Amino acid sequence: MIVRWWHEDVELTVPGAPRPRVFVTRQLPGDALDRLRGEAEVDVWPDELPPPRERLLDAVTDADGLLCLLTDRIDGELLAAAPRLRVVSTMAVGHDNIDVAACTRRGVVVGHTPGVLTETTADFAFALLLAAARRVVEGDRAVREGRWRTWRPSFLLGRDLFGATLGIVGLGAIGQAVARRARGFDMRLLYADPRRKTEVERALGVEHVTFDELLAVCDFVSVHAPLTPQTRHLFDDAAFAKMKPAAVFVNTSRGAVVDEVALHRALETGRIAAAAIDVAEREPLPKSDPLLRLPNLIVTPHIASASVATRERMAALAVDNLLAGLAGQTPRHCVNPEALDGP
Ligand code: DGY
Repeated sequence: MIVRWWHEDVELTVPGAPRPRVFVTRQLPGDALDRLRGEAEVDVWPDELPPPRERLLDAVTDADGLLCLLTDRIDGELLAAAPRLRVVSTMAVGHDNIDVAACTRRGVVVGHTPGVLTETTADFAFALLLAAARRVVEGDRAVREGRWRTWRPSFLLGRDLFGATLGIVGLGAIGQAVARRARGFDMRLLYADPRRKTEVERALGVEHVTFDELLAVCDFVSVHAPLTPQTRHLFDDAAFAKMKPAAVFVNTSRGAVVDEVALHRALETGRIAAAAIDVAEREPLPKSDPLLRLPNLIVTPHIASASVATRERMAALAVDNLLAGLAGQTPRHCVNPEALDGP
Protein backbone atom coordinates (compact mmCIF):
# COMPACT_ATOMS: atom_id res chain seq x y z
CA MET A 1 0.00 0.00 0.00
CA ILE A 2 1.33 3.44 -0.96
CA VAL A 3 0.63 6.29 1.47
CA ARG A 4 1.34 9.97 1.21
CA TRP A 5 3.73 11.01 3.94
CA TRP A 6 5.26 14.46 4.20
CA HIS A 7 5.15 15.21 0.49
CA GLU A 8 6.54 11.83 -0.43
CA ASP A 9 4.84 8.59 -1.31
CA VAL A 10 6.05 5.73 0.80
CA GLU A 11 5.36 2.01 0.76
CA LEU A 12 3.61 1.13 4.02
CA THR A 13 2.90 -2.55 3.51
CA VAL A 14 3.67 -5.11 0.88
CA PRO A 15 0.51 -5.62 -1.25
CA GLY A 16 -1.53 -8.45 0.24
CA ALA A 17 0.32 -8.36 3.56
CA PRO A 18 -1.73 -7.75 6.73
CA ARG A 19 -2.15 -4.10 7.71
CA PRO A 20 0.00 -2.93 10.61
CA ARG A 21 -1.64 -2.80 14.03
CA VAL A 22 -1.50 0.41 16.00
CA PHE A 23 -2.51 1.31 19.53
CA VAL A 24 -3.39 4.94 20.27
CA THR A 25 -3.57 5.86 23.93
CA ARG A 26 -6.30 8.54 23.61
CA GLN A 27 -8.79 10.06 21.20
CA LEU A 28 -7.09 12.73 19.09
CA PRO A 29 -8.43 16.05 17.81
CA GLY A 30 -9.05 16.68 14.10
CA ASP A 31 -9.04 14.03 11.41
CA ALA A 32 -5.66 12.46 12.21
CA LEU A 33 -7.19 9.22 13.45
CA ASP A 34 -9.33 8.83 10.32
CA ARG A 35 -6.19 9.14 8.24
CA LEU A 36 -4.46 6.55 10.40
CA ARG A 37 -7.44 4.19 10.12
CA GLY A 38 -7.05 4.36 6.35
CA GLU A 39 -3.61 2.78 6.67
CA ALA A 40 -3.65 0.53 9.72
CA GLU A 41 -5.78 -1.50 12.12
CA VAL A 42 -6.23 1.07 14.85
CA ASP A 43 -7.23 0.49 18.44
CA VAL A 44 -7.90 3.70 20.39
CA TRP A 45 -8.14 3.88 24.19
CA PRO A 46 -11.57 5.48 24.60
CA ASP A 47 -11.31 7.13 28.02
CA GLU A 48 -10.28 10.65 28.94
CA LEU A 49 -7.80 9.30 31.47
CA PRO A 50 -4.71 7.35 30.36
CA PRO A 51 -4.93 3.57 30.06
CA PRO A 52 -3.94 1.91 33.36
CA ARG A 53 -0.50 0.32 33.11
CA GLU A 54 -1.80 -3.24 32.83
CA ARG A 55 -4.15 -2.27 30.01
CA LEU A 56 -1.37 -0.48 28.16
CA LEU A 57 0.97 -3.46 28.47
CA ASP A 58 -1.79 -5.70 27.25
CA ALA A 59 -2.71 -3.42 24.34
CA VAL A 60 0.82 -3.34 22.88
CA THR A 61 1.38 -7.11 22.78
CA ASP A 62 0.53 -7.29 19.08
CA ALA A 63 1.11 -3.63 18.12
CA ASP A 64 3.49 -2.61 15.33
CA GLY A 65 3.08 1.05 16.25
CA LEU A 66 2.17 3.02 19.36
CA LEU A 67 0.88 6.58 19.37
CA CYS A 68 1.19 7.84 22.93
CA LEU A 69 0.95 10.99 25.00
CA LEU A 70 3.28 12.48 27.60
CA THR A 71 1.24 10.77 30.31
CA ASP A 72 2.24 7.27 29.12
CA ARG A 73 5.48 5.74 30.40
CA ILE A 74 7.34 3.97 27.63
CA ASP A 75 10.15 1.94 29.14
CA GLY A 76 11.93 -1.41 29.03
CA GLU A 77 8.96 -3.20 30.57
CA LEU A 78 6.62 -1.91 27.88
CA LEU A 79 9.07 -2.74 25.10
CA ALA A 80 9.43 -6.28 26.45
CA ALA A 81 5.64 -6.61 26.31
CA ALA A 82 5.58 -5.40 22.68
CA PRO A 83 7.77 -7.71 20.59
CA ARG A 84 6.42 -6.45 17.24
CA LEU A 85 6.76 -2.74 18.03
CA ARG A 86 8.66 -0.71 15.39
CA VAL A 87 7.67 2.87 16.17
CA VAL A 88 6.59 4.97 19.14
CA SER A 89 5.15 8.34 18.20
CA THR A 90 4.41 10.79 20.99
CA MET A 91 2.06 13.73 20.53
CA ALA A 92 4.43 16.11 22.33
CA VAL A 93 7.77 17.76 21.81
CA GLY A 94 9.04 16.59 25.21
CA HIS A 95 9.93 12.91 25.37
CA ASP A 96 11.15 12.49 28.94
CA ASN A 97 8.42 9.86 29.46
CA ILE A 98 10.15 7.62 26.93
CA ASP A 99 13.27 5.56 27.54
CA VAL A 100 14.79 6.47 24.18
CA ALA A 101 17.96 4.44 24.75
CA ALA A 102 15.90 1.32 25.39
CA CYS A 103 13.88 2.00 22.22
CA THR A 104 17.06 2.41 20.18
CA ARG A 105 18.47 -0.85 21.52
CA ARG A 106 15.28 -2.56 20.40
CA GLY A 107 15.34 -0.86 16.97
CA VAL A 108 12.16 1.11 17.78
CA VAL A 109 12.12 4.61 16.28
CA VAL A 110 10.69 7.42 18.38
CA GLY A 111 8.89 10.37 16.80
CA HIS A 112 7.84 13.61 18.50
CA THR A 113 6.16 16.90 17.52
CA PRO A 114 8.45 19.93 17.76
CA GLY A 115 7.85 23.10 15.73
CA VAL A 116 4.08 22.94 15.40
CA LEU A 117 3.49 24.06 19.00
CA THR A 118 6.25 26.67 19.32
CA GLU A 119 4.23 29.86 18.87
CA THR A 120 1.20 28.64 20.82
CA THR A 121 3.38 27.64 23.76
CA ALA A 122 5.26 30.95 23.66
CA ASP A 123 1.93 32.82 23.65
CA PHE A 124 0.94 30.95 26.78
CA ALA A 125 4.27 31.53 28.53
CA PHE A 126 3.76 35.21 27.85
CA ALA A 127 0.18 35.02 29.13
CA LEU A 128 1.54 33.57 32.38
CA LEU A 129 4.27 36.19 32.63
CA LEU A 130 1.66 38.94 32.29
CA ALA A 131 -0.90 37.24 34.52
CA ALA A 132 1.59 36.67 37.34
CA ALA A 133 3.19 40.11 37.00
CA ARG A 134 -0.13 41.94 36.93
CA ARG A 135 -1.96 39.67 39.38
CA VAL A 136 -4.76 38.87 36.95
CA VAL A 137 -5.97 35.75 38.76
CA GLU A 138 -5.87 37.42 42.18
CA GLY A 139 -7.92 40.28 40.70
CA ASP A 140 -10.51 37.92 39.30
CA ARG A 141 -10.74 36.13 42.62
CA ALA A 142 -11.12 39.42 44.50
CA VAL A 143 -14.06 40.45 42.33
CA ARG A 144 -15.82 37.09 42.65
CA GLU A 145 -15.34 37.15 46.44
CA GLY A 146 -16.86 40.63 46.80
CA ARG A 147 -13.56 42.31 47.69
CA TRP A 148 -13.79 45.00 44.91
CA ARG A 149 -15.08 47.74 47.22
CA THR A 150 -13.72 50.79 45.37
CA TRP A 151 -10.80 51.96 43.20
CA ARG A 152 -7.81 52.08 45.54
CA PRO A 153 -4.34 53.53 44.85
CA SER A 154 -2.58 50.54 46.37
CA PHE A 155 -4.88 47.66 45.48
CA LEU A 156 -3.27 44.60 43.82
CA LEU A 157 -0.14 46.36 42.62
CA GLY A 158 1.97 44.28 40.27
CA ARG A 159 5.17 44.58 38.26
CA ASP A 160 5.71 46.10 34.81
CA LEU A 161 6.96 43.86 32.03
CA PHE A 162 7.88 46.69 29.71
CA GLY A 163 11.45 47.80 30.19
CA ALA A 164 12.20 44.97 32.64
CA THR A 165 14.82 42.24 32.21
CA LEU A 166 13.65 38.80 31.13
CA GLY A 167 15.82 35.73 31.65
CA ILE A 168 15.12 32.81 29.34
CA VAL A 169 16.41 29.47 30.56
CA GLY A 170 16.82 27.33 27.46
CA LEU A 171 16.93 29.22 24.16
CA GLY A 172 15.42 26.54 21.93
CA ALA A 173 12.58 27.24 19.52
CA ILE A 174 10.08 28.12 22.26
CA GLY A 175 12.57 30.23 24.22
CA GLN A 176 13.31 32.17 21.03
CA ALA A 177 9.60 32.67 20.33
CA VAL A 178 9.23 34.09 23.86
CA ALA A 179 12.18 36.41 23.18
CA ARG A 180 10.50 37.71 20.02
CA ARG A 181 7.37 38.57 22.00
CA ALA A 182 9.41 40.22 24.77
CA ARG A 183 11.06 42.56 22.25
CA GLY A 184 7.63 44.12 21.72
CA PHE A 185 7.62 44.94 25.43
CA ASP A 186 11.02 46.66 25.24
CA MET A 187 12.49 44.09 27.59
CA ARG A 188 16.19 43.48 28.06
CA LEU A 189 16.78 39.85 27.16
CA LEU A 190 19.25 37.48 28.77
CA TYR A 191 19.50 33.75 28.30
CA ALA A 192 21.25 30.79 29.86
CA ASP A 193 21.79 27.69 27.78
CA PRO A 194 24.66 25.21 27.73
CA ARG A 195 24.74 25.77 23.97
CA ARG A 196 25.61 29.32 22.98
CA LYS A 197 23.62 30.60 19.96
CA THR A 198 25.49 33.56 18.56
CA GLU A 199 23.33 33.98 15.45
CA VAL A 200 20.16 34.03 17.52
CA GLU A 201 21.81 36.48 19.91
CA ARG A 202 22.40 38.87 17.02
CA ALA A 203 19.00 38.35 15.42
CA LEU A 204 16.95 38.73 18.61
CA GLY A 205 19.18 40.96 20.70
CA VAL A 206 19.56 38.39 23.48
CA GLU A 207 22.65 38.24 25.66
CA HIS A 208 24.24 35.01 26.86
CA VAL A 209 24.95 34.83 30.61
CA THR A 210 25.60 32.08 33.12
CA PHE A 211 22.63 30.57 34.95
CA ASP A 212 23.70 32.31 38.17
CA GLU A 213 24.08 35.68 36.45
CA LEU A 214 20.64 35.32 34.96
CA LEU A 215 19.09 34.56 38.34
CA ALA A 216 20.79 37.51 39.99
CA VAL A 217 19.86 40.11 37.38
CA CYS A 218 16.45 39.22 35.95
CA ASP A 219 13.07 40.62 36.95
CA PHE A 220 11.35 37.77 35.12
CA VAL A 221 12.58 34.22 34.58
CA SER A 222 10.88 31.90 32.08
CA VAL A 223 11.93 28.25 31.78
CA HIS A 224 12.07 26.52 28.39
CA ALA A 225 14.53 23.71 29.06
CA PRO A 226 13.77 20.03 28.47
CA LEU A 227 13.73 17.69 31.46
CA THR A 228 17.02 15.78 31.52
CA PRO A 229 19.16 14.43 34.37
CA GLN A 230 21.03 17.76 34.17
CA THR A 231 17.94 19.96 34.47
CA ARG A 232 16.03 17.94 37.11
CA HIS A 233 15.52 20.30 40.07
CA LEU A 234 17.59 22.99 38.37
CA PHE A 235 15.43 25.41 40.35
CA ASP A 236 16.09 24.44 43.94
CA ASP A 237 16.49 26.43 47.17
CA ALA A 238 19.93 27.65 46.07
CA ALA A 239 18.60 28.90 42.71
CA PHE A 240 15.61 30.72 44.21
CA ALA A 241 17.91 32.26 46.83
CA LYS A 242 19.89 33.91 44.03
CA MET A 243 16.83 35.57 42.48
CA LYS A 244 15.60 39.08 43.16
CA PRO A 245 12.85 39.32 45.81
CA ALA A 246 10.71 41.13 43.23
CA ALA A 247 11.26 38.44 40.60
CA VAL A 248 8.46 36.60 38.80
CA PHE A 249 9.08 32.97 37.82
CA VAL A 250 7.30 31.09 35.03
CA ASN A 251 7.60 27.43 34.06
CA THR A 252 5.96 25.98 30.96
CA SER A 253 8.54 23.22 30.36
CA ARG A 254 8.42 20.23 32.70
CA GLY A 255 7.47 20.22 36.37
CA ALA A 256 10.51 18.32 37.59
CA VAL A 257 12.85 21.08 36.39
CA VAL A 258 11.66 22.76 39.60
CA ASP A 259 11.89 21.46 43.14
CA GLU A 260 8.33 22.30 44.19
CA VAL A 261 9.13 22.28 47.89
CA ALA A 262 11.77 24.92 47.21
CA LEU A 263 9.33 26.88 45.02
CA HIS A 264 6.76 26.80 47.81
CA ARG A 265 9.34 28.05 50.30
CA ALA A 266 10.49 30.82 47.95
CA LEU A 267 6.94 32.08 47.40
CA GLU A 268 5.79 31.72 51.00
CA THR A 269 8.77 33.53 52.45
CA GLY A 270 8.77 36.28 49.82
CA ARG A 271 12.13 35.06 48.45
CA ILE A 272 10.52 35.76 45.06
CA ALA A 273 7.38 37.80 44.38
CA ALA A 274 5.23 35.51 42.27
CA ALA A 275 5.20 32.49 40.00
CA ALA A 276 3.07 30.82 37.37
CA ILE A 277 3.47 27.18 36.45
CA ASP A 278 1.74 25.19 33.72
CA VAL A 279 3.47 21.96 34.71
CA ALA A 280 3.97 20.09 37.97
CA GLU A 281 6.32 17.42 39.27
CA ARG A 282 3.31 15.18 39.73
CA GLU A 283 0.47 15.72 37.27
CA PRO A 284 -2.31 16.31 38.03
CA LEU A 285 -1.28 18.40 41.02
CA PRO A 286 -3.48 17.09 43.86
CA LYS A 287 -6.10 19.52 45.15
CA SER A 288 -4.53 19.23 48.61
CA ASP A 289 -1.06 20.32 47.44
CA PRO A 290 0.27 23.16 49.64
CA LEU A 291 1.25 25.08 46.49
CA LEU A 292 -2.44 25.68 45.82
CA ARG A 293 -2.78 27.66 49.05
CA LEU A 294 -0.32 30.32 47.87
CA PRO A 295 -2.00 33.52 46.62
CA ASN A 296 1.09 34.53 44.63
CA LEU A 297 1.15 31.37 42.50
CA ILE A 298 -0.87 30.69 39.36
CA VAL A 299 -1.23 27.05 38.33
CA THR A 300 -2.65 25.91 34.99
CA PRO A 301 -3.16 22.27 33.94
CA HIS A 302 -0.41 21.75 31.32
CA ILE A 303 -2.25 23.64 28.58
CA ALA A 304 0.49 25.78 27.02
CA SER A 305 0.08 24.07 23.63
CA ALA A 306 -3.70 23.78 23.95
CA SER A 307 -5.07 25.81 21.05
CA VAL A 308 -7.52 24.18 18.65
CA ALA A 309 -5.24 24.56 15.64
CA THR A 310 -2.05 23.51 17.40
CA ARG A 311 -3.47 20.36 18.96
CA GLU A 312 -4.76 19.33 15.51
CA ARG A 313 -1.30 19.98 14.05
CA MET A 314 0.33 17.94 16.83
CA ALA A 315 -2.03 15.03 16.21
CA ALA A 316 -1.42 15.19 12.46
CA LEU A 317 2.34 15.25 12.90
CA ALA A 318 2.21 12.38 15.40
CA VAL A 319 0.32 10.33 12.80
CA ASP A 320 2.80 11.33 10.06
CA ASN A 321 5.66 10.19 12.28
CA LEU A 322 3.90 6.94 13.08
CA LEU A 323 3.16 6.12 9.44
CA ALA A 324 6.75 6.87 8.45
CA GLY A 325 8.07 4.57 11.17
CA LEU A 326 5.68 1.80 10.12
CA ALA A 327 6.96 2.19 6.56
CA GLY A 328 10.54 1.74 7.78
CA GLN A 329 11.31 5.42 7.13
CA THR A 330 12.85 7.94 9.49
CA PRO A 331 9.96 9.98 10.92
CA ARG A 332 10.07 13.67 10.01
CA HIS A 333 10.85 14.45 13.66
CA CYS A 334 12.75 11.52 15.05
CA VAL A 335 14.55 11.41 18.38
CA ASN A 336 16.67 8.33 17.54
CA PRO A 337 17.20 7.89 13.76
CA GLU A 338 19.99 5.46 14.57
CA ALA A 339 17.32 2.96 15.71
CA LEU A 340 16.67 2.22 12.02
CA ASP A 341 20.15 0.74 11.76
CA GLY A 342 18.64 -2.16 13.70
CA PRO A 343 19.07 -3.49 17.22
C1 DGY B 1 5.01 18.99 24.93
O1 DGY B 1 4.68 18.93 23.74
O2 DGY B 1 6.02 18.47 25.37
C2 DGY B 1 4.11 19.79 25.84
O3 DGY B 1 4.44 19.68 27.15
C3 DGY B 1 2.66 19.49 25.58
O4 DGY B 1 2.36 20.18 24.43
